[in-house]
Amino acid sequence: MLVQESQEQEGSAEWVACLTYKSVATATPRVSDLDRLANKARARNRSLDVTGMLLFEDGCFLQTLEGPPQAVGAVWSSIQRDQRHAHIEVLSEHMAATRLFSDWDLLLEGRFADLHRGTRQAAKAPPAIAEHLARLVELALNADDLALNTLIAGLAEQGWTSEAILSLLIEPGARALADAWLDDRCSELDLTIGLSMLQLAGHAVRYIPSAQSIRNSRYRVLLATAPGEKHMLGTTLLADQFLASGWQVDMAFPDSEEALTNQMNAQHPDAVDIGLSDAMPRQHAIEQLRSTIEHSRLIVSEHPTVVSVGGRLFAEAAATALSVGADHARQGLAGTSVRLAELVRKSRLD
Ligand SMILES: Cc1cc2nc3c(=O)[nH]c(=O)nc-3n(C[C@H](O)[C@H](O)[C@H](O)COP(=O)(O)O)c2cc1C
Repeated sequence: MLVQESQEQEGSAEWVACLTYKSVATATPRVSDLDRLANKARARNRSLDVTGMLLFEDGCFLQTLEGPPQAVGAVWSSIQRDQRHAHIEVLSEHMAATRLFSDWDLLLEGRFADLHRGTRQAAKAPPAIAEHLARLVELALNADDLALNTLIAGLAEQGWTSEAILSLLIEPGARALADAWLDDRCSELDLTIGLSMLQLAGHAVRYIPSAQSIRNSRYRVLLATAPGEKHMLGTTLLADQFLASGWQVDMAFPDSEEALTNQMNAQHPDAVDIGLSDAMPRQHAIEQLRSTIEHSRLIVSEHPTVVSVGGRLFAEAAATALSVGADHARQGLAGTSVRLAELVRKSRLD
């Protein structure tokens, strides 16, 4: 809100509201239903100068809307009332200097992780994103960190937000790398190097501190990989995000449950985020994670720690916060610091 006000004071009419949410379809739509929805939405969005994209995959919608705040607000009110979907979760909401999309697009059954393979779905993706993702994966596999950083810096220069770079490129890129390894298209070493390349590139993402940062500054977060988890892409990128949002950040890469709970016991953070791999679907890790969280709940403290979990397992909704006893599961990296601040605030009020 403050961002908006300060821009208005400077007389800049160019700033756009940008909202990204995900939701679950209440009934499986047929292709013709989605076409009808897309045609109507496109016509209305054009008339209101709203751009963005809508992705439908595995029964879930992911949509970004951008445009004049009032117009985005009007479309958003309609969307929230729409009975065709439920469990609407806002992933990011901010003002941006530039648009990410030049038009409005519906991606049917699109799967960003598949785009680099040139599959049927790739034809339906906005070419810019598909091409950037394919390039990102190729550069990560070739360990070309210089070109990767140039790519990310160039996109940031064009006005891509940190949320967009993370959720449209870095995270799908990590999953695409793991899929390449699972399909025997690269070695495990290529995967490991590729992920660290993405991690380095992710640090080039700019975070614009918000007014909320100031209010968050008293909170302390422990960002940890799950005990024994070797992939630390998400955890390290979260550190940039939390620091930019004014949190005090501690990190842990524990090799055992005991090491993690000891650190929590010593630091009593307001929130802890325990990350599984953002690349690999670590199904077998659920039991262990549940046990770790259960034990961490035994730590006695004035304010219990808000427990968040993340990783590909949660991004793809193969597991939920409830299934491991956490308070929050992030389905992506974007917006985590904002959501955890809200949860910590709420837990203080209870
Ligand atoms: C997942 C989803 C995304 C939608 N996206 C848009 C959109 O971008 N623009 C739009 O005008 N309507 C969109 N709609 C349709 C609106 O929810 C609503 O039906 C339509 O705008 C008519 O608005 P009204 O019900 O307020 O008259 C979407 C619906 C769903 C289920």
